[in-house]
Amino acid sequence: MTYSDMGLVNTKQMFADAITGGYAIPAFNFYNMETLTAILDAARLANSPVILAVSESALKYMGDDMLIGMMRGANINTKNQVALHLDHGGSFEACKHAIELGFSSVMIDASKLPFDENIKLSQQVAEFAHKHNVSVEAELGTLAGIEDENTFGETSSYTNPGDVEKFVNATDIDSLAIAIGTSHGAYKRKSDNEELRFDILADVAQRLPGFPLVLHGASNIPQKLVTTINEFGGKMSGTRGIDTIQLRRATKMNICKINVDSDLRLGFTAAVRKSLSENPSNFNPRDYLNRARQTMTQICLDEIKDIMGSENKL
Ligand code: G3H
Ligand code: 13P
Ligand code: ZN
Repeated sequence: MTYSDMGLVNTKQMFADAITGGYAIPAFNFYNMETLTAILDAARLANSPVILAVSESALKYMGDDMLIGMMRGANINTKNQVALHLDHGGSFEACKHAIELGFSSVMIDASKLPFDENIKLSQQVAEFAHKHNVSVEAELGTLAGIEDENTFGETSSYTNPGDVEKFVNATDIDSLAIAIGTSHGAYKRKSDNEELRFDILADVAQRLPGFPLVLHGASNIPQKLVTTINEFGGKMSGTRGIDTIQLRRATKMNICKINVDSDLRLGFTAAVRKSLSENPSNFNPRDYLNRARQTMTQICLDEIKDIMGSENKL
């Protein structure tokens, strides 16, 4: 099965349009039917292109056949501009597997390897992917928080702008994820007024004119979702995300893909906690899962409009 058989597209055209238009394509992570349909519903309602991101662990959770079954069942049309993307592929084999399964885009995350090894592995993935017309994202610099959701990012090391031209030319990748102060998870910053390193972003964008850049760990972490979680039995404190204004600013500087996973996790959890708490005798999962789905659709819609700027860009 090829990705076009499932109505999917790679990211080439959507990124070219996003760079010219000064907006970002949303990349939302999914891992089950509710998250998948919430994202697709929002993209359709907003008339926005969208990237459906699946991590290696999410793929393992769903299983190959179930994922492909859901993608087919979603009845996607190429006009909708939907890409299926492997998020944080950790090896050549993981990327090859995803490509052969029907992904239209893969990320090879070799950012923790020495520079030359990162180049070698990213180049190897790009060569294989391009034979299948699949887009490739790679990363320079590292973000904290992927393994430990409670870190604040002390271990992040920013992208060195001096490396980017050599890396992109040597690898032939289609987009580059950079580290400018974002981090994965719900505990991203030490204080509210911390700024992303726009100086690094500006330098990278100047060295790679018109080249698609990607921001990971970019969830906004809406406080109202955390408040709902805590109001209904949860326990989260010290959460902090990346604010809307900074993300919007980044979309004007060649950031044309913004990755969001944690916001939907918070929305899902808040809605389920609230629904179960308010209806203690209910034991029908379709009721609370549907609340979760509606909440996630609204989060995606809000972010498409306020952060990505990709509304009505189809
Ligand atoms: O960037 C990482 C994503 O949030 C995926 O996390 O491996 O727990 O699915 P996961
Ligand atoms: P968040 O944890 O900020 O949602 O980041 C998601 C991400 O980068 C997925 O690759
Ligand atoms: Zn990420």
